[in-house]
Amino acid sequence: IKKVGVLTSGGDSPGMNAAIRSVVRTCAYHNIECIGIYRGYQGMIEGDFKEMGPRSVNNIVNKGGTVLKSARSLEFRTPEGRKKAHDHLVKAGIDALVVIGGDGTFTGGMIFNAEFDFPVMGIPGTIDNDIFGTSHTLGYDTALNTVVEVIDKIRDTASSHNRLFFVEVMGRDAGHIALNAGIGAGAEEILIPEENLGLDRLLESLQKSKASGKSSSIVVIAEGDKIGKNVFELKDYVEANLPEYDVRVSVLGHMQRGGSPSCFDRVLASRLGVKAVESLLEGKSNYMVGLQNDTVVLTPLEQAIKGKTEIDRELLRVSDIMST
Ligand code: F6P
Repeated sequence: IKKVGVLTSGGDSPGMNAAIRSVVRTCAYHNIECIGIYRGYQGMIEGDFKEMGPRSVNNIVNKGGTVLKSARSLEFRTPEGRKKAHDHLVKAGIDALVVIGGDGTFTGGMIFNAEFDFPVMGIPGTIDNDIFGTSHTLGYDTALNTVVEVIDKIRDTASSHNRLFFVEVMGRDAGHIALNAGIGAGAEEILIPEENLGLDRLLESLQKSKASGKSSSIVVIAEGDKIGKNVFELKDYVEANLPEYDVRVSVLGHMQRGGSPSCFDRVLASRLGVKAVESLLEGKSNYMVGLQNDTVVLTPLEQAIKGKTEIDRELLRVSDIMST
């Protein structure tokens, strides 16, 4: 391996810049070249490349977003698009890729690897933490801290007005953010896609909470929750059934994806970047680097995409006990 291309693709997440920095500097450390590919696979198709040396990544370890930009490329889903991308890589002398992103990014990387026998290594970057083979994806820890900080603020106004707030957090298919930030912020109920609480139990729980003397309530709901109503419908439903509650809704949205990465995410990004480049240099390909029991390990990309990430059921029980 003489020249590694690095890209970020799909939804951005805090820590992606720290990972780019790590890939670039690990390449420099091992005396190989590194090329930044802009806008993910779309930039690969268009040959939007830039040489990156160790000084080109100064002062980005603390920055949210991604300096390489991100995109979701429809063209890369076609064989013609991938052929164009491959031609650009060959022309630029790039002989290995580090792709930073979530399952869509890894799927693209895997297909590309199979078609052109091109060395690919994945780094998991998504706030949702829904990738198999790593206990933490880049940005997840930062997003948790962001959500807890915001819910603390919502709590202030909720308790001043004796209100119930439904707070919707990100998590299209996974409840990791909702469950962990919910416990961290002391939510009365947490609604996640992996477990359908049911409307009756929600009402029952809110009634109990009121009867026990609580003045304010926070219910955290993951956007992919399966209770059958969206957060605004839930507000109407609860107000219709429990008129004693004054309900408000707060949808946190994309603010959860921004901001300066936490120390945890910066360290994780640095470790994963080193492992990704060094694994390529050892001749490995088609893997994702991830964290398991605080050790950086490799998982085949196929497993990382297809494997199911479980939520910790014990956390549901802890949450129940905490809302007593
Ligand atoms: O990054 C993952 C995620 O945050 C999901 O939870 C969410 O549904 C999605 O991104 C929204 O992303 P976009 O607005 O970029 O399509």
